[in-house]
Amino acid sequence: MFSSPHAFFVRLACLLVVCLTTVTAFAQGTANKISIQTTGPQTTISKHIYGHFAEHLGRCIYGGFYVGENNTKVPHVKGIRKDVIEALKQLNIPNLRWPGGCFADTYHWKDGVGPKDKRPKIVNVWWGGVTEDNSFGTHDFLDMCELLGTEPYLAANVGSGTVQELTEWLQYVNFGGVSPMSAWRKENGRENPWKVNYWGVGNEAWGCGGNMKPEHYANIYRQYATFMTDWNNSNKLFRIASGANGADYNWTEVLMRDIPHNMLGGLALHHYSVIEWNSKGPATGFSEEQYFKTMKQAWRMEELVTRHSTIMDKYDPAKRVALVVDEWGGWYDVEPGTNPGFLFQQNTMRDAMIAGMTLNIFNNHADRVRMANLAQTINVLQAVILTDEEKMILTPTYHVMEMYKVHQDAKLLPLTLQTKDYAFGNDKLPAVSASASVDAQGRTHISLVNVDAKNAQDVSIDLFGATTHKTVSGRILTSKTLQDHNTFDKPANIKPVAFNDAKLKGGALNVTVPPFSVVVLELK
Ligand code: AHR
Repeated sequence: MFSSPHAFFVRLACLLVVCLTTVTAFAQGTANKISIQTTGPQTTISKHIYGHFAEHLGRCIYGGFYVGENNTKVPHVKGIRKDVIEALKQLNIPNLRWPGGCFADTYHWKDGVGPKDKRPKIVNVWWGGVTEDNSFGTHDFLDMCELLGTEPYLAANVGSGTVQELTEWLQYVNFGGVSPMSAWRKENGRENPWKVNYWGVGNEAWGCGGNMKPEHYANIYRQYATFMTDWNNSNKLFRIASGANGADYNWTEVLMRDIPHNMLGGLALHHYSVIEWNSKGPATGFSEEQYFKTMKQAWRMEELVTRHSTIMDKYDPAKRVALVVDEWGGWYDVEPGTNPGFLFQQNTMRDAMIAGMTLNIFNNHADRVRMANLAQTINVLQAVILTDEEKMILTPTYHVMEMYKVHQDAKLLPLTLQTKDYAFGNDKLPAVSASASVDAQGRTHISLVNVDAKNAQDVSIDLFGATTHKTVSGRILTSKTLQDHNTFDKPANIKPVAFNDAKLKGGALNVTVPPFSVVVLELK
């Protein structure tokens, strides 16, 4: 196989270089040590990893984003809350997925356009059986994305829709020329098309999207994708296939094998940090055991992303197709007294830990994970914002997203990490997780998470190849107890503050990270 021993060693050396420059490696050990590779080829961390998700579910849209055009209590622009727009702009949210989730495969977009008083009232069969009056539809969502400066990601109805319905939706929102759908759009007040690039072809096709087998869905996908066009015959739309449920690796295998890659921009993956589906536990009054189990589920994302990526590498070594984790986050029992179908839960330091750890995982896998969507933006599951009538609060998860925005579109700095354990009972987890990047201005950012519920972690960081850093500054998100959260009475209970426990000397950095906290450092 190798022409000479020399050729063998050259190949081995090349492989080692590739490993050091592109792969983030983890090992559990007796000390916390991070080596950051600051030179060599670099992958961009797509800003789209920091995407969000808004479903017609509970109070995410109605009461969350949208309060109606006639509301006199809450300041709004055409029914969209002004406080929410301002808060989300601070996050630089890159994309927003809508209208579901499971709701997407029941949604008929024509119900949500035209005069609002003429729109049909339907039943939201997935989420609480409540009346959906369709007052928030395509124009409302796409205009809102313009206000937010974010890219829309539309999830199309495959489960109970038709190819024609989807192609008409595409024509309605994207076509600038003369056609029945573009004429209707203009009649409804919008002259220019919105040019939506991201399109999901169904949602959870293995479950609420139709209970399909992967071979069946692969064929359905091919059929739908054929008629999804940008009218230049250039296949430029970013079409996303409904992906695996957690560790269903066969789903990924079949889709990567059976769908031509020029029809496939991304393949989705859904994974929630849930202890057990029939015993999820409370969002705030949880024990350390429940915390540990949740974090185990969050840490599973590392394995899921690694193994789905390995399958994708087999069929797509050039990494053309993105892995799109378009639903992730913590899922607990609903708050007592609230509608079980609304999935409303509080958000504590545990959620900050999930967010910090998961975003580190995505950053470190940026070569394949190029888009992700936290579930969900407002009042549902691991929300970044909670509202109560005219009141609005930012959750600990919001603050993590805000602290991590420095990584958006920055160059990933691959790292090797040796971490102590966070042990609970007979089980253990890596205590420390980390990711690092360098931005367009040459600033290096390192995000560190210590999930250990009791112990601070001393971390020594070696910045190989970097001699230019002169200063380090940082911010930390932490609190007195893991269960702490923000409330409408105490909205600033948890918020990031300046962090002074990082010492820079030459190419080495020493940091003490308190228990259950997230730290983001900036080196200049
Ligand atoms: O995010 C809530 C639900 O979880 C979504 O509607 C569905 O896709 C998933 O099962």
